[in-house]
Amino acid sequence: MTPGRRAAILARMDITVRRAEPGDFEGLWRVFSDESAYSGTLQLPLPSRELWRTRLADPAEGHYRFVACAGDEIVGSAGLHPAANSPRRAHAMSVGVAVAGSWQGKGAGKALLSALTGFADGWLHVFRLELTVFTDNERAIALYRKFGFEAEGTHRAYALRDGRYADVLAMARLRPKPR
Ligand SMILES: CC(C)(COP(=O)(O)OP(=O)(O)OC[C@H]1O[C@@H](n2cnc3c(N)ncnc32)[C@H](O)[C@@H]1OP(=O)(O)O)[C@@H](O)C(=O)NCCC(=O)NCCS
Repeated sequence: MTPGRRAAILARMDITVRRAEPGDFEGLWRVFSDESAYSGTLQLPLPSRELWRTRLADPAEGHYRFVACAGDEIVGSAGLHPAANSPRRAHAMSVGVAVAGSWQGKGAGKALLSALTGFADGWLHVFRLELTVFTDNERAIALYRKFGFEAEGTHRAYALRDGRYADVLAMARLRPKPR
C-alpha cells in the first residue's frame, strides 16, 4: 500500500486514547521528531529512539502518559506529571500534549485532553492541573480553554525556541465540583 493511501485510510479512522506501553517508543519518537510537534513543547529537536525507549521502559512513579492512536499508528501523546516534589504541592500536576503535524486539527488533542482530565478528576487526588504554553500557540490555548484551563499570567523569555527567547502563558484548571 502506498503511504498516501495508508494516510487516507487512517484519516477516516476514529482516534482512540490509551495508556502508553513500553513498545510505543518508536511511535512517540516519530511524533516528537516532527518539528511542528516538538517546537510547541519544551522537548529538544532530533530526539534519539533510545531516549524514548528508556522513558517508556522505566517510567517514574506518579507519572502517567497517554497516547492517541489512529488504527495502529500513534498520532499524539499527553503526559501528566507531578508539578513539584514538595508534599505541599501533591495536589498539583502538570500537563503536556503533542500531536504529529499531519494529525493536528483533527481532534487528537481533544481526545487526549478529555482522557487526561477524566483520569485526573475521577481517579487521582489532583485538585490543580497546570501547564505553560507559548503565547503565540493559539490552537493549544483554545484547546486548553475548552477544557477549563484559565490564564494566570505570562512568563517572559521563558524558553529558547529556535534561537529566540519566547514568552509563555501559565494556565491552570482547578478540579470542577470536587467532592
Ligand atoms: C496544540 C495541539 C495539542 C492541539 O491538538 P489538535 O489535535 O491539533 O487539536 P484538536 O483538533 O483536538 O482541536 C482542539 C481545539 O483547538 C482549536 N483549534 C483547532 N485548530 C485550530 C487552529 N488552526 N487555530 C486555532 N484554534 C484551533 C479549536 O478550538 C479546537 O476545538 P474544536 O474542534 O471543538 O473547535 C496540537 O496542535 C499540537 O500538538 N501542536 C504542537 C505541539 C504543541 O503546541 N503542544 C502544546 C504544548 S503546550
